[in-house]
Amino acid sequence: MIALDPAANRPQFINVRVKRQDGPGQEPYWQLFKIDYEPELNVITVLQRIAALSKTSDGKKVTPVVWDCGCLEEVCGACTMQINGRVRQSCSALVDTLLKDNADELVLEPMSKFPVLRDLMVDRRRLFKALEKVKAWVPVDSYYNMGPGERQLRAAQEQNYPLSQCMSCGCCVDACPQYNKIELERKKDETDEEFAKREQEAWDKGFVGPHAISQAMLFNNHPTGKSIAGERLDALTAPGGIQACGNAQNCVAVCPKEIPLTTSIARAGRATTIHTIKKWFEK
Ligand code: SF4
Ligand code: SF4
Ligand code: FES
Repeated sequence: MIALDPAANRPQFINVRVKRQDGPGQEPYWQLFKIDYEPELNVITVLQRIAALSKTSDGKKVTPVVWDCGCLEEVCGACTMQINGRVRQSCSALVDTLLKDNADELVLEPMSKFPVLRDLMVDRRRLFKALEKVKAWVPVDSYYNMGPGERQLRAAQEQNYPLSQCMSCGCCVDACPQYNKIELERKKDETDEEFAKREQEAWDKGFVGPHAISQAMLFNNHPTGKSIAGERLDALTAPGGIQACGNAQNCVAVCPKEIPLTTSIARAGRATTIHTIKKWFEK
């Protein structure tokens, strides 16, 4: 049990259990750290305190725990990890709130669906490759001034704005039962190009993920973005596309930006069905 400072009725220290891994493909192991309690800490600050100590709770000197972060204000998504069993951003995870749920310890693990690079830092390239697959961008329509673009109706703006808040953090895919971890091992004598090709093929076969489906719907509803709507729907009907979604709705429950992912998935389902029927008649 955690020791309480009787005068202030608050913990004297915080136990932090971290799942560590020394490199890609290596066996993970657990280490326990103990840091002094301070009010209003977030999990990133806890990791900074642990890095400064670099000592486990039983006094053993260890290498600093590795993690990733960027903005420190829940915008970049880089600091995403499993905290007490739930995937979320470590910069916005407040220790006082976490201790209310589990006063004994904080448990930090890397995301479960991406290959671990070291400790809490994972390789999220597949997440961004999925955005490339569905062409999640507005194509350039020219390089000279063509005057103001098409006006967007208020209803379209209201539909698009929530989807535009996606920060590619990966919480949704980490919680999705249909999104399986892909971690390839380099073959003996395989060149960089051969390995990259094999990796891309594996990603293409795997589920594209709810974030990519939602971004495809965002750009298909944009006045300029919709010019390549058919290409996005082709990507969503290819292997690993929308048909892989089992409608478990875990994604929407964990999205920190509260993006209506299941609404996007339902819209994508209807759009891909119409797109496929149209293509039959065009044959
Ligand atoms: S609704 Fe689809 S994308 Fe979302 S968690 Fe379920 S299977 Fe995954
Ligand atoms: S949809 Fe939500 S959970 Fe998924 S990547 Fe975007 S912000 Fe993160
Ligand atoms: S550091 Fe950018 S979201 Fe946490």
